[in-house]
Amino acid sequence: ITAGPTYEAIDPVRGITNRSSGKMGYAIAQAAREAGAQVTLISGPVALPCPRGVQRIGVQSAQDMLQAAQPAAESADIFIAAAAVADWRVANAAAHKLKKDGSGQAPALEFAENPDILATIARSPRAQAGQLYCVGFAAESENLESYAKAKRERKGVPLLVGNIGPATFGQDDNALLLVDAQGSRELPRASKRQLAQQLL
Ligand code: CTP
Repeated sequence: ITAGPTYEAIDPVRGITNRSSGKMGYAIAQAAREAGAQVTLISGPVALPCPRGVQRIGVQSAQDMLQAAQPAAESADIFIAAAAVADWRVANAAAHKLKKDGSGQAPALEFAENPDILATIARSPRAQAGQLYCVGFAAESENLESYAKAKRERKGVPLLVGNIGPATFGQDDNALLLVDAQGSRELPRASKRQLAQQLL
């Protein structure tokens, strides 16, 4: 299970991240553990305790998250990508703190696209052979059903879980829309803990 935001460094003291709290991914990790699974939680920087019995691997950037997820997925039955992965990283990150040079000019940041962790794992031989069931999330702000259906196809996963980003980031409750090959089904607003149990 991936969870939380990623953090993309600009220099050693600054970076770019997003408002994911990690609560949904952590709730899924806890529910999976309680259901008897052996759980590896690959987590970006969040302020949450690791659920009891769960193995947590802490990461910062999307590239770190991919590097941790690939070997973990090799021996897993299910991969759930709940993380809010940064789409872009800073391509010209500085080795030392950027300083004002007195010119009044802000430094120019260049961006490079991050690897798509979910799509990469969904294309792996074990996933393609049906030995690894991949679940993606979609954080949208509108048109949830049509965007979630399109994202399921694009990522090549059997199950895509849609939610409205601004209505869930940081909250203790959420509402989910499950989209698979059979159609879609809503899990109405409830605590993330309850939704995680229903999802599993
Ligand atoms: N995801 C990922 N690696 C990325 C980007 C996204 O693994 N580099 C995963 C997320 O964990 C989630 C799913 O892909 O399970 C969809 O993430 P989302 O941010 O909603 O979609 P994007 O692929 O970024 O598409 P867009 O920004 O166009 O909506």
